Amino acid sequence: MNWVWFSAAVLIFCRHATGAQGKCKSQSTCSACVSTAGCAWCKQRDFLMPGEATKHRCDTEDNLWRRNCSEVINPRPSTLTIRDETFWSDQGRVVQLRPQKLHIKLRLGVPHTFNVMFKRAEGSPIDLYYLMDLSFSMRDDLDIVHKLGHQIVSALKNVSSSVRIGLGGFVEKAIDPFINTVEAVKNRPCNKGYKGACQPSFSFKHVLQLTEDVTEFTRKAGNESISSNKDNPEAGFDALMQVAVCQDQIGWGDVTRILVYTSDGVYHLAGDGKLAGLYYPNDGKCHLNSEGFYDMATYFDYPSIAHVAEALSNHHIKLIFAVTKEHLEQYTAVSKLIPQSVVGVLEKDSSNVVQLISKAYDDLSSTILLEHHRVPPGIDVSYVSQCSDGTQSQSENRGACSHTMINDQVNFTVTVASSACLHEPTSFLLKVQGLNEELQVTVETLCNCDCNDTESFSPQCTSKGTLTCGVCSCDEGRMGQSCECERQEHKDTMLALDEKCVGPNSSQPCSGQGSCLCGMCICRRNIRGQYCQCDDTSCNRHNNIICGGNGKCSCGTCECNPNYSGPACECSTLTDQCHTGGGDLCSHNGHCECNKCQCDPDFFGRHCSQIRAPCFKFKPCVLCTVANGEDCTNACGGVKHITKMNESTPLVCFDETVHYNVEMDMADGSIRILYVLKPSKMYVIYLLISTATGGVVVIGLIGITICKIMFEII
Ligand SMILES: *[C@@H]1O[C@H](CO)[C@@H](O)[C@H](O)[C@H]1NC(C)=O
Ligand SMILES: *[C@@H]1O[C@H](CO)[C@@H](O)[C@H](O)[C@H]1NC(C)=O
Ligand SMILES: *[C@@H]1O[C@H](CO)[C@@H](O)[C@H](O)[C@H]1NC(C)=O
Ligand SMILES: *[C@@H]1O[C@H](CO)[C@@H](O)[C@H](O)[C@H]1NC(C)=O
Ligand SMILES: *[C@@H]1O[C@H](CO)[C@@H](O)[C@H](O)[C@H]1NC(C)=O
Ligand SMILES: *[C@@H]1O[C@H](CO)[C@@H](O)[C@H](O)[C@H]1NC(C)=O
Repeated sequence: MNWVWFSAAVLIFCRHATGAQGKCKSQSTCSACVSTAGCAWCKQRDFLMPGEATKHRCDTEDNLWRRNCSEVINPRPSTLTIRDETFWSDQGRVVQLRPQKLHIKLRLGVPHTFNVMFKRAEGSPIDLYYLMDLSFSMRDDLDIVHKLGHQIVSALKNVSSSVRIGLGGFVEKAIDPFINTVEAVKNRPCNKGYKGACQPSFSFKHVLQLTEDVTEFTRKAGNESISSNKDNPEAGFDALMQVAVCQDQIGWGDVTRILVYTSDGVYHLAGDGKLAGLYYPNDGKCHLNSEGFYDMATYFDYPSIAHVAEALSNHHIKLIFAVTKEHLEQYTAVSKLIPQSVVGVLEKDSSNVVQLISKAYDDLSSTILLEHHRVPPGIDVSYVSQCSDGTQSQSENRGACSHTMINDQVNFTVTVASSACLHEPTSFLLKVQGLNEELQVTVETLCNCDCNDTESFSPQCTSKGTLTCGVCSCDEGRMGQSCECERQEHKDTMLALDEKCVGPNSSQPCSGQGSCLCGMCICRRNIRGQYCQCDDTSCNRHNNIICGGNGKCSCGTCECNPNYSGPACECSTLTDQCHTGGGDLCSHNGHCECNKCQCDPDFFGRHCSQIRAPCFKFKPCVLCTVANGEDCTNACGGVKHITKMNESTPLVCFDETVHYNVEMDMADGSIRILYVLKPSKMYVIYLLISTATGGVVVIGLIGITICKIMFEII
């Protein structure tokens, strides 16, 4: 049971969550907006930007506040209790259902709940009508029925303050083929051997109006005699219908009403009457004559089960079928179709009928069923029941609690949700089955905006329209958000005007970057152009600055300042940074791009004045020259001079047989090599130490060597 309650709670929570706090689907009018779950409307006059669509007034309330709307319309669901008398129980007056009258206001799609309480009153008065089968097989029961009055009354007095009792009987429609219509047999239809009193057959006879006089019941019951018919089924349902609908003759009071139906046979139903040519369907009206007989029995057909069920339910009558064992199954099936009915097994001679009635009464009264009636279309009602035995359950059809003892209180949480707007407040009823107390619920749907700001010739509408809920409805010949557009031609529509805002390369009006006002684009900030096609903030960036700070962004393209070029104006067209002090462009070993030297492959440095790996690269040239001093053009490509030097000259590149320098002539970028042959060892050391770089290299090499040696020793 716990998980049922849990899932019910989750379900309700989810319905609430999606209904009330969910997103709002924007609508273009105030009433459509408030008819949409989760939406609120802003009626503040200057809330929208020029040309902004009206539906932007419709949003969740939170969003509207966030957008600084000062006048939000968001009707709230509410419950107003109109009548709520306290529980009461005495002879004259009983109040078991609270409250009695409610007025609820609903937002579409937003479920709303209220509580209904029921407290079972002590000993409410009882009216019990005893309807007995007087067909021939019941002859042995008659003796018991004669004495029944006192027993029933004293049994029921245990649970009730006052009991009234009434009596009726049924046999069969007095028409061929249900009875034998031979005149002599018709008057005394019982078996020839039967010596007791015998009366002609009838469909239903009301014998005794409900009365507190038990002696009268005994007397009238004593006067009744048996009758007989041909077939087994009887006219019991004819009788049930008459007892239900003949309110005055039966004498039903405003109390707990019980109808006891005793029979040892089955019943005829709608359609069976056709056997006797009775084609008129049962009309569900009272037709008792002055002697208490149902005098239209041979005119109307039998009623259907549903028809009887409806009549009993409309008149709050609880039905007890006291039937013999062999028909238990049939009557149990029927009972399922009749609210507030139970079946009990009757002994062959009706001897147990009093216990049967007491138990059935208890079953009927301890089951509390809260149901809705006449609910308008589009309104959904569902229930969560909290019963006195601690159980909780959820249902779409009704609230239900069984085993409710006298003075127990059960609670129902009723959820009402509407999916359609009602034209006017409409009422429906909640009733506890079998009782005539009711809760009247009037439902009003909050589908209209009561904006209270209607203004004709409003300045907000260029004095050319009426303002309601912040929205203009324009006079003839005008249109637009503030009626600012004049209808040029007869055919001019807002749609046609909007089309004028669609650029040749776009599918959206104003390229989706502005709003269309009377056929003209009003662009958002930083956006320009007839169709708002130009965005002055979306140009290329350099170093994260639009157009590198060296130009103007225009319609998505950088317009560079003089002396700049490139997609983001990142490139200077000057060359001053590429010139060496001597005025040479990139030392003749590269070219100038965006005022920066782009060096040829063998050179580097700001002005391409450094040679890349000179010792390695020109070693073949030097070795070739030293070796034969002749055809070294291949090895010495790009070398202009190669000169042998005196020993004293300091050189940085060295090989086993030759040491050399590679230098660049700043004047023309040409390469010059100076070399000496076989320098002495001492000189090498001097050379290494004498140059700073050489010193560092040697110290580094010595360090590395020591480290390596140490690692290897370790
Ligand atoms: C709302 O008003 C506040 C203060 O006046 C302002 O800072 C904020 O930008 C406004 N928000 C909008 C969406 O206009
Ligand atoms: C019904 O509600 C009342 C209070 O309103 C409470 O005292 C009572 O216990 C509830 N009954 C059940 C069965 O939950
Ligand atoms: C409607 O307008 C009247 C007068 O302008 C005012 O007194 C009243 O309070 C307004 N009602 C609402 C709900 O705004
Ligand atoms: C439309 O696009 C074409 C090609 O993309 C271009 O040549 C033309 O200038 C564009 N026109 C406008 C108005 O943007
Ligand atoms: C562009 O470069 C020329 C030549 O160096 C100079 O005279 C001119 O002032 C520069 N223009 C700007 C806007 O810096
Ligand atoms: C080499 O040195 C001597 C003197 O030390 C000098 O006379 C001679 O000119 C030098 N040769 C060159 C090529 O510099």
